[in-house]
Amino acid sequence: MTDEDRIIYLDNAATTFPKPPEVLAEMHEVYAKLGVSPGRGTYDLASQADEIVSRTRNQICQFFGGDSPDRVIFANNATDALNTAILGLAKPGGHVISSRLEHNSVLRPLYYLRQEGIVTYDLVPFDEQGFTDPQDFRNLMRPETQLVVLTHASNVIGTVQPIAEIAALCNERGIPFILDVTQSAGVVPVNMKELEVAAVAFTGHKALMGPTGIGGLVLRKDLEIQPTRFGGTGVDSSSLLQTDDYPFRLEAGTINLLGIIGLSAGIRYITRRGIENIYREEMMLCRRLRDGFAEMDQVHLYRANDLNNHVAVLMCNIAGMDARDLGDILDGDFHIATRSGLHCAPLTHLDLGTSPAGGVRFSLGPFNTLPDVDAVLRAMREIVATR
Ligand SMILES: Cc1ncc(COP(=O)(O)O)c(C=O)c1O
Repeated sequence: MTDEDRIIYLDNAATTFPKPPEVLAEMHEVYAKLGVSPGRGTYDLASQADEIVSRTRNQICQFFGGDSPDRVIFANNATDALNTAILGLAKPGGHVISSRLEHNSVLRPLYYLRQEGIVTYDLVPFDEQGFTDPQDFRNLMRPETQLVVLTHASNVIGTVQPIAEIAALCNERGIPFILDVTQSAGVVPVNMKELEVAAVAFTGHKALMGPTGIGGLVLRKDLEIQPTRFGGTGVDSSSLLQTDDYPFRLEAGTINLLGIIGLSAGIRYITRRGIENIYREEMMLCRRLRDGFAEMDQVHLYRANDLNNHVAVLMCNIAGMDARDLGDILDGDFHIATRSGLHCAPLTHLDLGTSPAGGVRFSLGPFNTLPDVDAVLRAMREIVATR
């Protein structure tokens, strides 16, 4: 690849790219040696494959401060994990609280449940800085509230929500609190015991530096989730009932061994680099980008005045210009990959006043550099100057 062809990749909130070479190498090597069905056969290779799965459950349990490795449930991604948790916890007549910052992976299961007449729900707003207010959660809690589900960090504006306060309100009332850590895990410490949440839903392919197709849930021991999918688990095969035992109760079908190998290597990579170091480096670049944008009068940034309690995600528009056009020019003329549109979070954009066109999101990752940011600022200055 020549410098000319090099892409400046600023769509890390969609998926991190590139992946660390050691993650890719490990996926290739281990899967070539042990790519058999884990947890099913009794032959040695199957046991070794199963050992990788068990080790990764342990690793993830430790990484998120979970109670027990058997409460680490593998899923395809965060969407799959959130569906498993939301549909498995909602009971007829129940009530759910969430927020207007959510991704469609929360909004759509909730909307489906409401359309089916199963639950009602309320969505708390976010303020001028992009944060939800724990008091709003408190005011909406009622005896039939069965679940609070909230994104830890917004995938549109990057704000990190006040989780501990909301968790305390939930725990006082015995309401399970599910935290969507899709945008935070890997850059912000997520410890379930410290945050006192009942579960986290994660995806492997973003800041955890794994491949697509792997994600999961980590459940506190006291949280019981009803299965909503049924099938082979490799245990209790004579019974037509789904096993009650975790993790298999919520893991029907052959699990994604290749994804698990990559996820495990990804978590080892970020742990070695130190998530606080990755965060510090990304936020240094994010601040420089924000400050550069702030000097351009025509660039409107959303909820980025205060970058404390923030991940390295910025969303902006150029006055009078369609977000998709800006994204296309950045890509076509400057080889800068961003994400324009609604970012699967339609209510966030509605409340920001950016619907229906949305905005252009710049999201930094562990392989971005100062020259990347400076190139983006030069490109934006050029685009603004020609208008
Ligand atoms: C906050 C948030 N939650 C959930 C998801 C869904 O993640 P996945 O597509 O990996 O299922 C995303 C994806 O961008 C997200 O940003």
